[in-house]
Amino acid sequence: MTIFARITGTGSCLPVRRLSNQDLVEQLAQQGIETSDEWIVERTGIRARHFAADGEFSSDLAAHACRQAMEAARAKPAEIDLIIVATSTPDMVFPSTAALLQHKLGISGCPVFDVQAVCSGFVYALTVANAMIQNGSARKALVVGAEVFSRILDFNDRTTCVLFGDGAGAVVLEASDTTGILASDLHADGQYAGILCVPGHVSGGQISGDPTLKMDGQAVFKLAVGVLEEAARAVLVKAGKTESDIDWLIPHQANIRIMQSTARKLKLPMDKVVVTVDQHGNTSAASIPLALDCAVRDGRIQPGQTLLLEGVGGGFTWGAVLLNF
Ligand code: UT7
Repeated sequence: MTIFARITGTGSCLPVRRLSNQDLVEQLAQQGIETSDEWIVERTGIRARHFAADGEFSSDLAAHACRQAMEAARAKPAEIDLIIVATSTPDMVFPSTAALLQHKLGISGCPVFDVQAVCSGFVYALTVANAMIQNGSARKALVVGAEVFSRILDFNDRTTCVLFGDGAGAVVLEASDTTGILASDLHADGQYAGILCVPGHVSGGQISGDPTLKMDGQAVFKLAVGVLEEAARAVLVKAGKTESDIDWLIPHQANIRIMQSTARKLKLPMDKVVVTVDQHGNTSAASIPLALDCAVRDGRIQPGQTLLLEGVGGGFTWGAVLLNF
């Protein structure tokens, strides 16, 4: 009998500290950096973001999101037999954030690891977990996106520091005899590594190079709108579906203009697109599961609906997952 993997619970976490655009404008003005609410809203759709407190790490946000997801799925920690965390802002160089999360959840023994695919991380992690469930390696997985991007921002660079926020989202993905994940489509092209990166590294006990985020926004924008359409079409073809089968598009939340462009190309009205970028900013690997959980909890997403999740980001990486919720 074919084994499918279904999402049976979702959860999320945002740090308490919320900064509106105006809060950030005032903070940056004290450093002599000029920006405005109008510029940020018009170019990105972002109105606010959350920043983690000192001493609050990706694994802390992830733990909160996972507890919510397990409660929603009525899953006990002892039943979890796989944890995958998508993050580019791990607590430590090693061990993995997944290992630290596992301990915080009171789980031990099962395989755990991080996936590093930047803003595409959650669709990568979901694809890996789906494959492990389908091949019998796991039956009940936690798949998480968790980030504290505020730690890697250069607050002297107004072209990037207004764009990102912190948060986490999680799902319980379970073996099932009814369909869940229908198809996935993942890609990467390392020739574009330089357009979105944190080039620093640890060497000889010191940070060598710049440990803050660098982005050529226009180059990323152009690539993103092209590959997101391709990935969406590819995953629909793989699943034998068409655009009209999509109930909800849950794209990576980087820029409202990129989401509008993808929706237009897929002939989807914006009221079928889950948008949280206005309140969360870009939370990288956390953005898709955070948006998913918001729309599940407010009742927009209903059991049985068809969801298209898609991400794009540093690497360059991109991909999509189509699923029955
Ligand atoms: O998560 C991974 C995926 N990431 C993305 O998808 C991000 C993709 N890129 C984007 O979303 C957009 O390119 C940005 C939002 C980053 C930038 O928007 P843009 O429309 O491409 O603006 P731009 O870079 O062309 O900059 C336009 C102007 C420039 O001034 P001049 O040269 O025209 O005088 C910038 O210096 O806006 C200026 N600018 C700002 N002004 C006020 C840049 N940042 C700011 C700012 N406040 N924060």
